[in-house]
Amino acid sequence: MIGKVCGTGSCVPAEVWDNQRLAEMVETSDEWIRERTGVARRHIARGEETTVYLASKASMNALENAGMKPEEVELIIAATISPDQIMPSTACEIQKNIGAVNATCFDLNAACTGFLFALNTAQAYLSQGIYKTALIVGAETLSNLTNWKDRSTCILFGDGAGAAVLKAEETGIFAQVTHSDGEKGGVLTCTSRNRIDYENHAAAPETYMQMDGKEVFKFAVSKVPEAIDELLEKAQMDVQQIDHFLLHQANERIIRSVAKRLKQSIDKFPINMEEYGNTSSASIPILLDNLNRAGALEKGDKIIISGFGAGLSYGASLIEWQK
Ligand code: UT7
Repeated sequence: MIGKVCGTGSCVPAEVWDNQRLAEMVETSDEWIRERTGVARRHIARGEETTVYLASKASMNALENAGMKPEEVELIIAATISPDQIMPSTACEIQKNIGAVNATCFDLNAACTGFLFALNTAQAYLSQGIYKTALIVGAETLSNLTNWKDRSTCILFGDGAGAAVLKAEETGIFAQVTHSDGEKGGVLTCTSRNRIDYENHAAAPETYMQMDGKEVFKFAVSKVPEAIDELLEKAQMDVQQIDHFLLHQANERIIRSVAKRLKQSIDKFPINMEEYGNTSSASIPILLDNLNRAGALEKGDKIIISGFGAGLSYGASLIEWQK
């Protein structure tokens, strides 16, 4: 059995911060941010727009797109590094909000690779015949974990959620490759220990996302093409047979570098970070939903999804668009 994507959905907060707004907060410029990252705007959660709120809306949109009722969902996996609470899980809260009363629900943390790991985990359950339908969600309110005084990180991130519904079918294409490198975890961190710096009466800096941007950049441009090559070999396919490469939307320069290394046209690499920034686990499902709703995906298209981020973790999965 193979899990096929039969619906997608997304939801982003209403409030939009453009680069100019950030230039009023830290020493930066619209020109620098666009040139070095490809980001022009990001959506920022306010008030009731929590991680669970965005995730639940995205999930409902995905179910509607799939033409399915919430009661039909048997598994919900929510990937997030910015849950509203430690427990209950984001997935259980989504279940409650959408009325997916028959689902088994849990969260998964693989940072920016989270949606990819959720896809692979759901596929493992579906391929074994344990469940027939799964809802996988990537949802983040990274604005809560962002140090708005640190120009090296605050210009990158945004909030949002994306979701996909998978249904088990007899035949189809799916292959996956994943890797983790805990030894290098120190280059991208955010701790929940010792939240308060009592001497300065402020949140301790390490409770916000901290990143060695150059090291993460080098890791992404070398490991993503490697993972894609490994995946193609495993699936016994040629890179030319792939119609779309959906990469985690961290930096446009990373995506251009991967396209070049794979000797593929950049047109095969859709990009939406201009509008949303880096939304971690939500970036790939938001992109998938944007493409689905724009009619950019044809039945039978071969899609490689590739994520990379904290852990360090990375991987690539191959799906066939069947919607
Ligand atoms: O989703 C998780 C995965 N995350 C990523 O994939 C992020 C990967 N890394 C990156 O995207 C890039 O490394 C950044 C966009 C974070 C930084 O770009 P960079 O080209 O690596 O810049 P840099 O850190 O080498 O800094 C270059 C210069 C420095 O000035 P000096 O030392 O050359 O005088 C920085 O101080 O740019 C300066 N700088 C800035 N200038 C204006 C750093 N941040 C800013 C800023 N505005 N926001």
